[in-house]
Amino acid sequence: MILSIESSCDDSSIALTEIATNKLILHKKISQENDHSAYGGVVPELASRLHATALPKILEDVLPLTAQIKAVAVTTDPGLSVTLLEGIAMAKAVSISLDIPLIAINHLQAHIHSLFIEKQQIDPLLVLLISGGHTQIIKYQNGAMKLLATTLDDSVGESFDKVAKMLDLGYPGGPIVEEYAKRGDKDAVTFPVPLSGSPKLAFSLSGLKNAVRLEIEKNQNSKEDICASFQHAVTKHLLQKSKKIFKSDATKDFAIVGGASANQTIRQAYEELCKQYNKTLHLAPLEFCSDNAAMVGRLGVEKYKQKAFSKLEDIDANDRSS
Ligand code: KG4
Ligand code: ZN
Repeated sequence: MILSIESSCDDSSIALTEIATNKLILHKKISQENDHSAYGGVVPELASRLHATALPKILEDVLPLTAQIKAVAVTTDPGLSVTLLEGIAMAKAVSISLDIPLIAINHLQAHIHSLFIEKQQIDPLLVLLISGGHTQIIKYQNGAMKLLATTLDDSVGESFDKVAKMLDLGYPGGPIVEEYAKRGDKDAVTFPVPLSGSPKLAFSLSGLKNAVRLEIEKNQNSKEDICASFQHAVTKHLLQKSKKIFKSDATKDFAIVGGASANQTIRQAYEELCKQYNKTLHLAPLEFCSDNAAMVGRLGVEKYKQKAFSKLEDIDANDRSS
C-alpha cells in the first residue's frame, strides 16, 4: 500500500491505497473550514497549527496496517508553504521510521488523479482545473501536464470566496454562493463576461469581482440574485474559453477537477458543451473534488510503479507562486 498525506491548505488528510488494484483502503480527512470561517479566509499560521494536531490523530488509524506500507507520498507543491511543511515533516518521519521511500506529489497532478481513484488512468485527457488557487486548462498526455490556458488574476474558487466575503456569507464561499444562487434569478443582473471579446486563451475573474462589488454597493438586488448572476457569468466565461480549445483540440476525453468542480451549475453546463462537441465528460465524485489524500495516493501508486522516489533532503515545500 501507499500511505499518502495532504496538507497543502486547510484540509488534513491521510489515505492508504493498494498498489496492485488502486483500491482505496482507508481515507480520513479533517477539514478546518469552520476554524477559518470567522476570518473570511484561510489563516496560514492557524492552518499549520491545526495540521500539527489533526495529522497525528488520523495517522493513528493507519498504525495496524504499517507492515503493508511500501512508500509514503506527500503533497510538496504548490500550496501554502507553512501548511505543506506539516505534511512533509510527517512523511519524512514515517519514511525514516519504516525505512520506505518518499514520493513528492504535485498538487495539480494530484487533482487530476482524483478522477482515477479506484480506476485506470485516462490519457490523453483535457482538464479544466478550478480550485482556490488555480484556474487552468491542461492537456494531460503521457503522464505530463501541458498548460493551455490559465488565469491572469484570481482563480474561480477565490472569486467565489471573495464574493461570499463581500456579501457577508462566510467561508468557504463556493458552496454558500452556490446555495444562494439556487434561490436567485441568474438574469437579475447582467454582469460582463470577462475577456468575451478577446481572442486570448486566458481567464480573468478580478474584473467580474469588482462588478459584483459595485452591484452590492447599489443595494438594488438580493444576495440570492447577485449570487445567481455572478455564477452565471463565471460559467459563461469558462465555457467561452473552453470552446476555443475544443475547436482546436480533438482530444476525446475532457474532465473538470478541483474544489470548484463540485459546482452543479458548472457541471451541468459542461455536460451540454461536451455533448455538443462530442467529448466524454469525466467528473470526480463530490467527496474527491476538494483537497484530499485519496488523490495524492492514487498518483503515488503511479509514481511508485515508476520508482519516482525523492531523497529526503531534496524535499521542500513550494508555495503558490512556484
Ligand atoms: O481544490 P480545493 O479544495 O483547494 C485548492 O486547491 O485551492 O478548492 C477549494 C476552493 C475554494 O475556493 C472553494 O470556495 C471552492 O473550491 N469551491 C467551490 C465549490 N465548492 C468549493 N466553488 C464553487 N462552487 C462550489 N460548489
Ligand atoms: Zn486543491
